Amino acid sequence: MSSPSSTEQNHASAGGKVILLGEHAVVYGIPALVLGVSRGVTARLLADTCTMHVLRIEGWGVDVATGDCTTTDLGRAFGALVGASGVRVGASPRVVEVHVDLPPGGGLGCSAAIGVAVARALDGAASQADVMDRAMAWERIFHGNPSGIDVWAAAHGGIFSFTRGVGATPLAPPCTLHLAIGSTGRASGTKVMVERVRALKQEAPERVNAIFEGISGLVQNATHAILCGDVSGLGAHMNANHEHLINLGVSTPELDFVVGLARGAGALGAKLTGAGGGGCVAALAESAEHAEAIVRRWNLAGVDGWTTTSAQAQVEMPPRGAWPVHP
Ligand code: MEV
Repeated sequence: MSSPSSTEQNHASAGGKVILLGEHAVVYGIPALVLGVSRGVTARLLADTCTMHVLRIEGWGVDVATGDCTTTDLGRAFGALVGASGVRVGASPRVVEVHVDLPPGGGLGCSAAIGVAVARALDGAASQADVMDRAMAWERIFHGNPSGIDVWAAAHGGIFSFTRGVGATPLAPPCTLHLAIGSTGRASGTKVMVERVRALKQEAPERVNAIFEGISGLVQNATHAILCGDVSGLGAHMNANHEHLINLGVSTPELDFVVGLARGAGALGAKLTGAGGGGCVAALAESAEHAEAIVRRWNLAGVDGWTTTSAQAQVEMPPRGAWPVHP
């Protein structure tokens, strides 16, 4: 592994996401609604030459080489991504340095954003489809059976409906959606949570299928609400989706607490977002000021939070290296 004094070569970015409705059910082919967020990941390819490709994650103390691919998930995932990139990046190994402005294990698509940003940095000429294929190779190591929603959101941003094996339909709300994102401070593993739902589905298929049907109906109604600008309706569907996620066994007392605080502060809707078991809550607010007020309420209870909007999500890909460093 080289230890560089480096010159930058290629800069790339990718965004995080919140799932507005439909997580877990999306793994089984039910559509889900997703919004890109105003935080993400930047990656830059350094000019150092080395014997193997190296992934360095600033602030995490991570430095893995493709040759480490048998020892850690990160090494395996990086090896899978580079392998999927094929000869285009194989000729001259490089160091990819990554800056992450998303909480790992927070349900905000951190690993997919890293995968997409690294795939772009390694091969600036890759098409969106190739970038997503390569990032999926990376995601499969961490998530086992990913639906692809996180990778799609990281690569495209925006607000859209996603169906596994089909793809995404962009949605254009007639008004800006304002969200507050609150963190339980507890990281969770998507692989574990997806596996937990799979086991429950095997044990109690009728119960889980009924939950998925309920979620499917909510996603349809919420899609309509977004397209009509019915923000209160969208919030009510988010609340109902959270109840289904509780019944699926993926919420936690901490998530329910953060949801309860947001609702107490007047959120139009609040639910866990992502795999659950920890991670974050997405709360829908009436305005930017209201979203800030929800964050202040969380802060009073020691919960970290920040705000984002659908307007910020409309960026297909931010300018190179343009994700702000979040305090
Ligand atoms: C994770 O962000 C969303 C899940 O539905 C898993 C997936 O779709 O791959 C829990």
